[in-house]
Amino acid sequence: MDRRTFLKTAAASSAVVAFARTALAADRYFPTQVNQALFEGINRVKDPAMKTGLEKSHAPVLTAPASVKAGEPFNVEISVGETLHPMLPTHWIEFIELRIGNEPAGMADLQANGYVKPKVAFTVVIPKEAAPSGKVTLLGRQHCNLHGLWEGSLDIAVS
Ligand SMILES: [Fe+2]
Repeated sequence: MDRRTFLKTAAASSAVVAFARTALAADRYFPTQVNQALFEGINRVKDPAMKTGLEKSHAPVLTAPASVKAGEPFNVEISVGETLHPMLPTHWIEFIELRIGNEPAGMADLQANGYVKPKVAFTVVIPKEAAPSGKVTLLGRQHCNLHGLWEGSLDIAVS
């Protein structure tokens, strides 16, 4: 094999190896069998009138007054699921987050040692300028180690 042929072969081999590595990197392996589609984006309830079992136990449920006054504190409670999600050593909620619209407002990290349930309360104050239309959307997000990222929302009026 002459030098030119060797270099061409070596370059082609490198390209094949690089492609194979890229293809392998696209695969993800979990020690517990999971539905990988749940880890490809944010999961939400598809039809509120017909929630699936997974949606009932994973979609964050937000509770807050329907109407609040700008500049005055109020409570927003976020529970993970209509039926509270388990907090087991192998299956638990890692965090619960509150967003005011698209702005992160707070986050609670949870541990799977059995001390806490996946339900938190935040005390929130919304300034007048944050709700120019008189409404604001509260977003609750949570991450389950086996079922991915989930989001629920609640619109409230701000006067
Ligand atoms: Fe889960």
